[in-house]
Amino acid sequence: MIVTIDGPAGSGKSTAARGLAARLGFDYLDTGAMFRAVGLALRDAADADAVLAAVRLEMPPGRVLLDGRDVTADIRTPAAAQAASRVATVPAVRQFLAAEQRRIAAGRDMVCEGRDQGTAVFPDAACKFYLVADPLARAERRHRELVAKGEAVVLADVLAQQQERDARDAGRAAAPMRPAADAVVIDTTGLSPDDVLARLEEVV
Ligand code: C5P
Repeated sequence: MIVTIDGPAGSGKSTAARGLAARLGFDYLDTGAMFRAVGLALRDAADADAVLAAVRLEMPPGRVLLDGRDVTADIRTPAAAQAASRVATVPAVRQFLAAEQRRIAAGRDMVCEGRDQGTAVFPDAACKFYLVADPLARAERRHRELVAKGEAVVLADVLAQQQERDARDAGRAAAPMRPAADAVVIDTTGLSPDDVLARLEEVV
């Protein structure tokens, strides 16, 4: 069984997806981490196709390995988020990662989190969610997370980068960020993580 959770950055989908997977006894797939790792792999690449043909991406629980190197921490910076959303507009990158995501999920019960899981990668998923929240609430959430990790960032910059990333993710031609027609849309503004999880569980 596949459950998809899509939505913009800071909508609470990572916490919800992890929590739901734990509650259901499902595996969890963070597809944003895959885009972030490919963003890193392509950072200095002259020939993107050659890199994609050779790159090795492994997703053991809670970690991301790029060609055998642990990049779990490296992919969590604001710069890595911007790099991810830029490579995410490239159709060859999306095709490569969609195939990887389907391969990883084959035969498993999985909660798949991202931007296009319900629309493009798993259109037949049993259960689809799309999480939204007020832009300022999302930026505040993201800002708190980054500060807690020791990043020196100010809220105004987080908000500006969020707007840039949202516009790029929703505006691209290839698998743009949007709710699937059959997704349950949940506005998480003002909801606690427990409230969100309870609502997801009820629907599943
Ligand atoms: O979710 P996260 O913030 O880690 O995603 C980083 C970027 O990767 C997003 O801004 C988006 O551009 C891209 N992405 C995507 N499709 C997915 C997951 C992430 O395009 N399924």
